[in-house]
Amino acid sequence: MQTMSFSTFFSEQARKPSGIFGRVLMSAVFDIGNAKLNKFVGELIPAKENDLVFEIGFGTGKLINRLARQIEHGLIEGVDFSESMVAIAEKRNRIHIENGKVRLLLGDFNHLQLETEHYDTVCTVNTIYFWSAPNITARKIADILKPNGKFVVGFEDIEQLKQRKLDDDIFNLYSTSAVETLLLNAGFSNGIDIHNRKFGSSMFNCVVATK
Ligand SMILES: C[S@@+](CC[C@H](N)C(=O)[O-])C[C@H]1O[C@@H](n2cnc3c(N)ncnc32)[C@H](O)[C@@H]1O
Repeated sequence: MQTMSFSTFFSEQARKPSGIFGRVLMSAVFDIGNAKLNKFVGELIPAKENDLVFEIGFGTGKLINRLARQIEHGLIEGVDFSESMVAIAEKRNRIHIENGKVRLLLGDFNHLQLETEHYDTVCTVNTIYFWSAPNITARKIADILKPNGKFVVGFEDIEQLKQRKLDDDIFNLYSTSAVETLLLNAGFSNGIDIHNRKFGSSMFNCVVATK
């Protein structure tokens, strides 16, 4: 029997946290390790009153929580296919869920039936690496956005990620220009803005694409 390397195990847990490792360790990794990138992305999300926002792969639900606190009226929805993450995000956003401002779904974004031209903003942080069919996912995002809607995608710098021992069968790394090309091909024809921010020695990217 072949044993899984730690790199493969960790990469798979980052893609889809599960079990006690996912619930305890990966949630801490996401909450602490991803905090700066999520803050950066949150600042670039143009959430206004009465907006409909959708997050793909919300993890522990911190960005959802930030957005829910930012607007009085509107709806912040999201999907994650990890049961552990949905449970943590539900706990974190309990009041907003009860008030009808947040709706969290368990499932795979690629298999969800969502209304076309429905959302003002779709966002995602640290999930693009795991897209198995990037062109299809990017086109689906464009489909569910209203005309002129925004897609905001946050990801770590490619050179930085190359230094980590990640399994490249699980993690597909992107340069900002590769993301730009992907989104142009998916129909984001009204502008693509690339933002970079350095926090200490870490470099983060956020691409804001307008449909
Ligand atoms: C690396 S974590 C990032 C979590 C969070 N966005 C953050 O920045 O801390 C990736 C998350 O996306 C979820 N995910 C990955 N692919 C997904 C898909 N196709 N549909 C739904 N959730 C997905 C995983 O379960 C996981 O919670």
